[in-house]
Amino acid sequence: MLRKFLLANLIFGIFGLVTHCFAEEAPKSEKEKSELAKVMDEIDKYYKAAEQISGYYKYSLNDWKVISESSSNIVKLTKIVIRKFSRPDDQKYQDLNKTMLTEAEKMFEVANRKDEQGALEDAQWQVRRLRQTCALCHKHLGIHLYPQLYPGGKDKIQSEQVEIPLPK
Ligand code: HEC
Repeated sequence: MLRKFLLANLIFGIFGLVTHCFAEEAPKSEKEKSELAKVMDEIDKYYKAAEQISGYYKYSLNDWKVISESSSNIVKLTKIVIRKFSRPDDQKYQDLNKTMLTEAEKMFEVANRKDEQGALEDAQWQVRRLRQTCALCHKHLGIHLYPQLYPGGKDKIQSEQVEIPLPK
């Protein structure tokens, strides 16, 4: 009885391993991703780290570290986008990249004055400003990834677009 059980386990184990190997090969599109898409994925990772904690009513030291590191990384990555993936024929794209840089820089500044009154609200505000910038550029370019990326978040983004006008 026990041997049968072990044998079954072994077979399933091998089966699992094989399917796992096939699964590893599947996402070929990963390799075909453009350089810009890869940078965007990085930006997304840091943005989401900041967004994830944006509902907290108090940030711990560690949370502030997340804000600080996320924003400084977004600053770096946006500078790469501006330098390597500029589109001189698309002024709106250029402007929105600059906006993303400015908003990420502001977020970093907030983390530097984390002990001042209102810093938490300012940090949360910056997360929303960033999100709006992402959404505006993707919308401008007809990239419909927000509904999938943030399920249920679409309405929120749209209402915030009305709520916060971008600086000229
Ligand atoms: C100024 C324009 C612009 C801004 C601002 C912008 N993006 Fe993008 N984003 C793009 C473009 C262009 C692509 C498509 C890249 C490609 O596929 O070559 C893209 C694609 C993406 C993708 C998909 C990458 C993939 O794997 O295919 C993600 C995720 C993403 N952006 C996240 C963000 C986040 C998060 C922000 C804001 C913090 C942001 N983007 C801000 C222009 C922008």
